[in-house]
Amino acid sequence: MRQRLAVAVICSTAVVLFSLPIIAAALPQSTLHPAGRGAELIAGLFWWMAGGALLIWALVIGIAWYAQRTDRQPWSTTALRRFIIIGGAVFPTLVLTTLLVWGLWLLAPLRAEPGTDALRITVIGEQFWWRVRYPDGTDNQIELANELWLPVNEPVELLLQSRDVIHSFWVPALAGKMDMIPGRTTRLLLEPNRTGSFRGACAEYCGASHTFMALQVRVVERLQYEAWLAAQRAPAMMPTDALALAGANAFLRNGCGACHTIRGTAAGGRVGPDLTHVGSRLSLAAGTLTTDSDTLARWISHAPTIKPDARMPAFEVLPAAEITAMAAYLEALQ
Ligand code: CUA
Repeated sequence: MRQRLAVAVICSTAVVLFSLPIIAAALPQSTLHPAGRGAELIAGLFWWMAGGALLIWALVIGIAWYAQRTDRQPWSTTALRRFIIIGGAVFPTLVLTTLLVWGLWLLAPLRAEPGTDALRITVIGEQFWWRVRYPDGTDNQIELANELWLPVNEPVELLLQSRDVIHSFWVPALAGKMDMIPGRTTRLLLEPNRTGSFRGACAEYCGASHTFMALQVRVVERLQYEAWLAAQRAPAMMPTDALALAGANAFLRNGCGACHTIRGTAAGGRVGPDLTHVGSRLSLAAGTLTTDSDTLARWISHAPTIKPDARMPAFEVLPAAEITAMAAYLEALQ
């Protein structure tokens, strides 16, 4: 009995110690290092629960240690019955009721309506990427992909939709997760309170490349946000470099514009991501690759190998020189 107790204590302590480095490594995408009000409320609940669990664990180990002492007096039937009723029914009911009430109380601030002038961004789940629509200051919207830039200390409402299956939008450092359901618009309130880069991921299995459906959130000062949005709003510049210029022609000639839009050119397809400023994006293929001419060339020629079931076809049949030129063009779309 004493040995089993020692094993139980050692095992639970080891689990806690071994989890610490994993928690630390996951910090840019961690609910335990909140950077927004929603995540803070949830982290608060977590720490109280973790502390409570630790206390209850110590209590159970204490009772087990007491129970295996050979010199103790046996309890009377009444004492045993009282112990079981208090420990097995009253105590768990009190703890779980408190957690339930607390959890329900948290829903109100997490679902609060921001003011009518708050920034509203539409995010649409696709196979397997995020279509992002920002208001452009007029009645129109500009379309981006796989990243959100947000001004710090301002409430932002996300309007979440899906084109195909259920996805789930989750940036753990900023707020809880919210399902994106075809035919509906769900809402998520973000209130980032410190600047930085935060990783998000799709949190609902949505197909072969569910795991390659990440997004980046950059929380910046208001001025930096406005400069970024102004740059994204501008149409694409025609490249001056000869290779990139050849790439621009190859892009249109090979029909890439049937699926992709590059504002300021004849390419106006709506199936795939808007590529107007693809060269400035923080990642390629929804967090799968870095954005440079090498990865762009790889992506154009082998997309379905890199990201199974992605709707982007493989264009390895094109001459290598054309792929290189197109990759140079896309990289130049800053
Ligand atoms: Cu989208 Cu999982």
